[in-house]
Amino acid sequence: MADTNKSATLTLEGKSFELPVLSPTAGPDVIDVRKLYAQAGVFTYDPGFTSTASCDSTITFIDGDKGELLHRGYPIDQLAEKSHYLEVCFLLLYGHLPTAVELEEFESLVTRHTMIHEQMHYFFRGFRRDSHPMATMVGVVGAMSAFYHDSLDINDQQQREVASIRLIAKMPTIAAMTYKYSIGQPFVYPRNDLDYAANFLHMCFSVPAEQYNVDPILARAMDRIFTLHADHEQNASTSTVRLASSSGANPFACIAAGIACLWGPAHGGANQACLEMLREIGTVDRIPEYLARAKDKNDPFRLMGFGHRVYKNFDPRAKVMKESADEVLALLGVENNPTLQVAKELEKIALEDPYFIEKKLYPNVDFYSGIILDAIGFPTSMFTPIFALARTVGWVSQWKEQLADPQLKIGRPRQLYLGSTTKDYVDIENR
Ligand code: CMC
Repeated sequence: MADTNKSATLTLEGKSFELPVLSPTAGPDVIDVRKLYAQAGVFTYDPGFTSTASCDSTITFIDGDKGELLHRGYPIDQLAEKSHYLEVCFLLLYGHLPTAVELEEFESLVTRHTMIHEQMHYFFRGFRRDSHPMATMVGVVGAMSAFYHDSLDINDQQQREVASIRLIAKMPTIAAMTYKYSIGQPFVYPRNDLDYAANFLHMCFSVPAEQYNVDPILARAMDRIFTLHADHEQNASTSTVRLASSSGANPFACIAAGIACLWGPAHGGANQACLEMLREIGTVDRIPEYLARAKDKNDPFRLMGFGHRVYKNFDPRAKVMKESADEVLALLGVENNPTLQVAKELEKIALEDPYFIEKKLYPNVDFYSGIILDAIGFPTSMFTPIFALARTVGWVSQWKEQLADPQLKIGRPRQLYLGSTTKDYVDIENR
């Protein structure tokens, strides 16, 4: 972040205040209002943070107009095509692409942390089997702070490192366990001879009674889904993690907060909501009815998997996801899947519709991911836990970055108060 020679002038009741303008390496300039209240006695007002940078960061950059997503400078389509999830994890965490030795060491470290404390198995059993897997996941990840006392000290760099690796390594195990628990099957332990994505499929789909061979194409599709969800700068769940962490909360509590936020249908919950919507539409002839509902201001219905706060051209992740969907469905011989037909037609019609063009609403990452996950065999309730496990590295990278910032302050937004001013308490008999 560099000071520019530019400044912005705010004029208020005849007085002028100079506000420094900071220059990013990419993206629009930023007006620095940190001293505004002290100098001018006013707050800025920006619910939903549509014009506010909440922090500085060197991890991920999005240009919503160009449809560009960069991790540490590398475009997401190149990473999705040439790299793989654990390499992207290294990149996000440490800022550079690993050498062969660094990658091998990192993969080995993550692989050797995939088992969870055995007593956590009993903790799982306290949940109802019909709980949503996200409910279980929020609880279990939060409870990691009760099991891993030796990585709770956020002021100890080594402990922060261990907590990061534990979270990235154990999240697939926890997600798979939530699934197994919900269907009444035994938990499956991780296998160190498999890679990250293949091991996740193994823990979800194998049973002790027979041999399960992971299909490499499905493992590749799974890995790509993880890669495409790895980080997305200051989205709602990441901002939640940062805000929780700003108070000094432990890493597992912060990531549990991120999972809770991700669950909402406007964020990570959209992948489940999108597939359910596509199934509800059911056939291509019913698309106009749903489009009309999406445009009706009096109907709360929204086209799930469409629109994004930042992308106003296209979501680069959706492009890669669509290719993966075609690949996976062809492999499984289900190209004529009716849900896919509805999705393709819906995308075509919506992209030509003046309402969607005018509001710059394009398919987002969640539009096609559900179709792939469904084809692999996951129930819709597992879609958001899979998003959560993939996003963990983004949360952890942003958490580490924030803790290393010497300027870190507790996050404490101000408000525009519109309630009553002071009034005297009225005794109950006089109300
Ligand atoms: N269907 C119909 N209309 C929409 C939609 C949609 N999916 N999304 C936005 N609009 C309309 C909205 O009604 C508003 O219209 P108007 O200007 O007349 O009031 C306009 O477009 C702008 O919408 P907004 O809600 O002000 O935009 P936002 O930036 O606050 O919301 C969003 C972004 C992603 C929450 C929203 O587009 C949405 O609810 N989409 C559906 C849920 C979804 O797919 N979410 C996944 C996002 S990508 C994965 C992730 O980040 O987790």
